[in-house]
Amino acid sequence: MSHLVTGIASLVTNDPAIGDGSALGLVENAAVVVEGDRIAWVGSAAQAPATDSVTDLQGRAVVPGFVDSHSHLVFAGDRAAEFSARMTGEPYTGGGIATTMAATRAASDEELVTHVRELVAEMRAQGTTTVEIKSGYGLDVAEEARALRIAAQVTSEVTFLGAHVVPPSMRDRRQDYVEMVSGPMLQACAPYARWADVFCEPASAYAFDGDETRTVLQACAAAGLELRVHGNQLSAGPGVQIATELDAASVDHCTHLTEDDVAALGAAGHLIDPENPSTGTVATLLPGVEFSTRSPYPDARRLIAAGAVIGLASDCNPGSCFTSSMPLVIALAVREMNMTPAEALWSATLGGAIALRRNDIGRIRVGSRADLTVLEAPSYLHLAYRPGVPLARTLELAGQDRARNGRRTSRG
Ligand code: NIG
Ligand code: FE
Repeated sequence: MSHLVTGIASLVTNDPAIGDGSALGLVENAAVVVEGDRIAWVGSAAQAPATDSVTDLQGRAVVPGFVDSHSHLVFAGDRAAEFSARMTGEPYTGGGIATTMAATRAASDEELVTHVRELVAEMRAQGTTTVEIKSGYGLDVAEEARALRIAAQVTSEVTFLGAHVVPPSMRDRRQDYVEMVSGPMLQACAPYARWADVFCEPASAYAFDGDETRTVLQACAAAGLELRVHGNQLSAGPGVQIATELDAASVDHCTHLTEDDVAALGAAGHLIDPENPSTGTVATLLPGVEFSTRSPYPDARRLIAAGAVIGLASDCNPGSCFTSSMPLVIALAVREMNMTPAEALWSATLGGAIALRRNDIGRIRVGSRADLTVLEAPSYLHLAYRPGVPLARTLELAGQDRARNGRRTSRG
């Protein structure tokens, strides 16, 4: 069965070999042919081949589905009061994670599964076709494994974040907690996860310092997990240096950076082959967090000037940023971080794919997954031009299996 999607006023392919030759590979008056879950043809609508069925988008724009490479969706409870307090001057410290831990532990499997499915549906309704989901609100062996089992029901991009914070019951036994995470918790969690992550933040009393971060990440890598890091969110800590040194796929937040950090991310960016992203560290920026914690935004232009590869993600979580909207993230990146609309869209699609070391998503080209997002607008520029307006939705075509929004194969 072949299906033609035509009437596309402007198509973003992220393939510089097609269309206008820019990084976005823009094609005007375009069409795409989908066969099964893959793209079979891309080009000008006037030259489209005959197919079994047709969808006419009547002048709308199409972009690659957003790749949200950073979220924490397995949780219960509500921290709106903490948000409200921040809006009148309270700082974000990570201390509220314990509140979510308690609510999450108290929730049934069914409640957590229902909630995570609702949030993934909310993302899809706004154009996201791939989402990474972390654990990190269980913080003991059984609860972390449960969170990952649940995340694995909705995505193949599952991340073990046992080292999110030290749970309250072990506050004066940090070393024991690090050993637990690196030992029995990792053993119980590794079968469900592709990735491991640590909240590396010496400026938070709850998160982990450089030595602790290294210990956990090295144990996780030895167990076969690939690495990502929460780094440099609240202070210029060691997260970026550790992430680049251990060749993590991404270091996320990157809000407070030294000159050495920027240089390390620039050097890591030069290692990245977007065609086959198997090495090098992406700098993933999460401007929804700065918006929702009323903090200064990361300096995207400084990173771009150094040669870093930038990803954009939502960080959807109940504490620091409870948005599921990649269009909002794009608008913030443009308005508050001075990224161009083209750079922001690229970072929210192919940048996210590279941050997940995937070469089958983030582009619209022959052989890629048929993850198409359609806009109620003639061009991608409207994503930032019309902030807060629900323009983006995933294009659902008959016969596509959306169950696991990603690779069918298991990790490796
Ligand atoms: O990425 N920084 C650490 N973790 C999350 C926030 C988690 C929470 O506050 O519940 C983040 O911002
Ligand atoms: Fe996060």
